[in-house]
Amino acid sequence: MLIDTHAHLQDRKFKKDLDQVMERAAQAGVEKIICIGYDYDSSRETVELARKYEQVYAVVGVHPHDSSSVTDDILTRLHQLAKDPKVVAIGEMGLDFYRDLSPREDQRQAFRSQIKLARELYKPVVIHDRDAHQEVLDIVKQEKAGKNGGIMHCYSGHLPLAVEFMKEGFHISFAGPISYKNARKSAEVAGRVAADRLLIETDCPYLTPEPLRGKRNEPAYIKYVAEKLASIRNKTVEEIAYLTSRNAREVYRLTD
Ligand code: NI
Repeated sequence: MLIDTHAHLQDRKFKKDLDQVMERAAQAGVEKIICIGYDYDSSRETVELARKYEQVYAVVGVHPHDSSSVTDDILTRLHQLAKDPKVVAIGEMGLDFYRDLSPREDQRQAFRSQIKLARELYKPVVIHDRDAHQEVLDIVKQEKAGKNGGIMHCYSGHLPLAVEFMKEGFHISFAGPISYKNARKSAEVAGRVAADRLLIETDCPYLTPEPLRGKRNEPAYIKYVAEKLASIRNKTVEEIAYLTSRNAREVYRLTD
């Protein structure tokens, strides 16, 4: 059995056939799917999906691309949303200095205020970091973001930095790119992260793994990420499934 620790099922690319997507996930052995918000409305939608589907859990927060939308009012509303028992973390939050869709100062502020929200709620954080590695680490340390656990999602940094995040209490999650020829570095890091901190995700509808790259991604395809990781770490797919599901249960505190 597998757990997809990062999916965006509320994306409109799933509007037409979500029931079939859920069915294919079940057939592929995906027992739980953690659905991640990227702004207030999509966060509210993740909570609705978690109420509708037993195997879905919700994470609420604002992606760095939308940092400029993080007002006090939005933080209060996220706090309200997070009271739902199926909300298991706050995110995805962080810094994206690759696309820079929100001014960097807004990104830093939105990141810090969402870490504070997660700390108030004793919840783990889900972090997006693109081309901002050192600054993400600095903020994580200053705000003690890993106090209640956390996930570096779709990790793209090098190994020594991953070690720093693990010291701060973080799990490290890998997605489809570990199967891409042009992402050898990520695959190498995925081979060396501590076994008890390793997670897998799809980040669907994005980042479709090989051999399906180019198609819409969905939770059923997590098996390709598991297979790739198994070959990198010289383990069986069953061992990787067991390990990553156990780690996912721990970080998101899933009780069943
Ligand atoms: Ni994502």
